[in-house]
Amino acid sequence: MVPAPCADRFVTSVAPGEPWTDDPYAQALRAGRGPLYLRSLGPLTPGEAELLPLEVERWCAAPDAADTEVLGRCTGPVLDVGCGPGRLVAALAARGVTALGVDVSPAAVARTRRHGGAALRRSVFDRLPREGRWGTVLLMDGNVGIGGDPAALLTRLRDLLRPGGRLLAEAADEDVDQRLTVRVEDAHGRHGRPFPWARVGTTALLRAADSTGWILTGRWSVGRRSFLELHRPTSERQEPDAARDGHVAPPDHTPTTGEGPQVNGPSGLHGHRVR
Ligand SMILES: C[S@@+](CC[C@H](N)C(=O)[O-])C[C@H]1O[C@@H](n2cnc3c(N)ncnc32)[C@H](O)[C@@H]1O
Repeated sequence: MVPAPCADRFVTSVAPGEPWTDDPYAQALRAGRGPLYLRSLGPLTPGEAELLPLEVERWCAAPDAADTEVLGRCTGPVLDVGCGPGRLVAALAARGVTALGVDVSPAAVARTRRHGGAALRRSVFDRLPREGRWGTVLLMDGNVGIGGDPAALLTRLRDLLRPGGRLLAEAADEDVDQRLTVRVEDAHGRHGRPFPWARVGTTALLRAADSTGWILTGRWSVGRRSFLELHRPTSERQEPDAARDGHVAPPDHTPTTGEGPQVNGPSGLHGHRVR
């Protein structure tokens, strides 16, 4: 994106086909529905799907049971990274929780604001407000894929949180660990430009979180959706090695939704280095 002078201020000119910006994603968000896909341009191994459906209808709807469980774990202020049309930001605002969505898509930012949420058109890798002071960062709906390098993204998110702050991250619903080149495409083959993306299931997400110094404090599923709660250590003493010695134990929440999230594993791995 190139800033272009315009009368008395600078505006951002968008190159044609800019991912998530000037491609079929914007039209789908305006309509509130798909069908819409990420088309994988590779590398693909035999049996891997080429078209990954994007759940535009769900993103444009009210929060579902899985979202409600996530909302219950949020401590403000909350930053929703890749907020899309903003159902979570709007729901947090309605609960009186300070929340901001960031998204590169003008259509996503506009829709979030229309629904009562605050949103900023910016990349998560750009300078953001309250760096190092967010209480919770959300990474939902496949957004672990942003940038195509989960470890780089997790490192960036760690710096956005205050010490002891939490990341609520959704994993892919398959046990995958893929780095892909993709593009957004609609049912008629209209598409934007290719960009790097990643698909990361729970195992690979745990591995990436371990390598970037997070402390795992919760792990659960609702239906097909799987989530991790990760904490930024509060101090050097709470860095992962100290956590193993029992210095870290932020309490996990008891599952609250009617559908009853499944908390995986006997221990839930509370307060321990990700393993
Ligand atoms: C898979 S969609 C998830 C949508 C979303 N969580 C929702 O509730 O609708 C990915 C979202 O991330 C946004 N995005 C992609 N790259 C981004 C970046 N570098 N920084 C911030 N947002 C980004 C896209 O515009 C899109 O809205």
